[in-house]
Amino acid sequence: GAPVEVDIADLAPGQMKTVEWRGKPVWILRRTPDMLASLNSTVAQLADPGSTRNPDEMTPAYARNAHRSIKPEILVAIGICTHLGCSPTEKFSPGAQPSLPNDWAGGFLCPCHGSTFDLAGRVFKNKPAPDNLPVPRHMYASETKIVIG
Ligand code: FES
Repeated sequence: GAPVEVDIADLAPGQMKTVEWRGKPVWILRRTPDMLASLNSTVAQLADPGSTRNPDEMTPAYARNAHRSIKPEILVAIGICTHLGCSPTEKFSPGAQPSLPNDWAGGFLCPCHGSTFDLAGRVFKNKPAPDNLPVPRHMYASETKIVIG
């Protein structure tokens, strides 16, 4: 499939947009400073915090860092659960979700079997999903233009 170009100039902090690339949903989330800070608070509970599993398929070298992205605030990830392929939903306000564990700073929840991911798409331990959400190959064509693929 052809690369997909995405304009993120209109993406406000805390907002996410979804584009389709090769028939898959790709999420682009502009994380707030609080969202970025939340990535540090739950590292010990992650299955693969450094994205070292299957790195060539799952996480390009430029995203193998603490925020799992090229620009710290912009997450680009494929929104397909690595368990059996459901699409997780975003849970950005754990305070409004009393059923979520208190120590989860928010992220993504897979409705099928309950896998949870942080705001960098990293899966929590002891969940059915084995791997973090994949980061697709991408680059910045300009400050506000991402090319996926
Ligand atoms: Fe997501 Fe099973 S498909 S937890």
